[in-house]
Amino acid sequence: MTQKHIVIIIGTRPEAIKLAPVYLAIKSEPHTKVTLVATAQHRQMLDQVLSTFSIKADIDLDIMRPNQSLSEVSCQVIVGVQKVLAELKPDAVLVQGDTTTCLCSAIAAFYEQIPVGHVEAGLRTYNLKAPWPEEMNRRLADPISRWCFAPTSRAAGNLRAERIPAENIFMTGNTVIDALLRARDIIRQQRPKISELADGLLDEHRLILVTGHRRESFGKAFEEFCQALRQIVQDHEDTVLVYPVHLNPNVQKPVNKILGKLERIYLISPVEYLQFVYLMDRSYLIITDSGGIQEEAPSLHKPVLVTREATERPEAVEAGLAKLVGTSKEKITTEASHLLTDTDAYTSMSGGGNPYGDGRASEKIVEILSSTITA
Ligand code: UD1
Ligand code: UDP
Repeated sequence: MTQKHIVIIIGTRPEAIKLAPVYLAIKSEPHTKVTLVATAQHRQMLDQVLSTFSIKADIDLDIMRPNQSLSEVSCQVIVGVQKVLAELKPDAVLVQGDTTTCLCSAIAAFYEQIPVGHVEAGLRTYNLKAPWPEEMNRRLADPISRWCFAPTSRAAGNLRAERIPAENIFMTGNTVIDALLRARDIIRQQRPKISELADGLLDEHRLILVTGHRRESFGKAFEEFCQALRQIVQDHEDTVLVYPVHLNPNVQKPVNKILGKLERIYLISPVEYLQFVYLMDRSYLIITDSGGIQEEAPSLHKPVLVTREATERPEAVEAGLAKLVGTSKEKITTEASHLLTDTDAYTSMSGGGNPYGDGRASEKIVEILSSTITA
């Protein structure tokens, strides 16, 4: 029996985290062969993930440039991926999420008439400005995909409502939970070291873990977010705030200007996945605009304040495990203080199961692909 050839394309940190378990599952399946293509829309942050999972890209387009524009990345991905696909002629291509790499790789595959599987399909805010440009990326990838792997029933429902054919929609859970549960088991056996944080720091304080990087918030909203963080730490002396700062210069600049060199605020470089999962596991509270972290935190029973105006992941908010707090200084400060001082409010946000998956999504995706790819 000839093996079915699947090309997996990754560009950024979250795509690598969420497709690593799928890559490993396809690799261990005897009837499929996999080629990993990195566009390297991210460089250092992608390499960190590949090294954590002991994975190496077979082909690396190395496209990242400092402060790159969306149009530049889009052109390079379409042209670069098209050449690779024309040469490899795989039976299927897998893309993930809502990044430029995701949409533009799906377009390149569509032009080459190779069927596309979109992992994490169907998430929507129905607001093209938030998340921007990701809402557009994800919405356009779905109708050109042969397999829409929806993480939740809501996402599957969105796809049905958009008249995506029922035979193209598969409810699998989110593969980030597969990655997270593996990482959680490892870090609970052996605590990873984080060189920028002194031993004992987290034993003596409550940890507020922060990330923030969304393009639609750059400018005033991002500055207010930083000012709120400064206020929260000043108001609660038993806390430390750790913020692994995204390498985008539009993030680095305001964060360092407003939060640099302050007592109990640790601005550190992006950390490897195991280290980040350890920090989440040790945290008291998470404040973030990240998509992936909103999905991971409920499995670790950590409340999340989501610093966005809209989320395409409303399930945790509806389950009372996350709160959408926008980007105003006052609202973020008030909501964080509430969780830091009111034990009942805190407890009610830190229970429950994870609405995004059970850790078996990759397995399901590989089963579906194995039985439906026509070579
Ligand atoms: C991208 C995705 C976003 C995702 C985020 C994950 C798009 C449009 N956006 O946003 O959906 O949530 O990744 O983090 O695809 N940089 C480095 N080294 C790195 C990574 C980034 O220096 O390893 C800097 C570079 O200057 C680069 C800039 O960050 O030009 C922006 O990177 P880019 O991938 O264009 O956008 P993100 O904001 O990271
Ligand atoms: N993450 C990481 N190191 C960090 C910060 C985050 O490994 O320093 C992980 C996090 O656990 C999650 C993913 O990166 O799985 C989220 O990526 P990001 O926030 O960059 O993108 P988004 O999910 O918003 O698209």
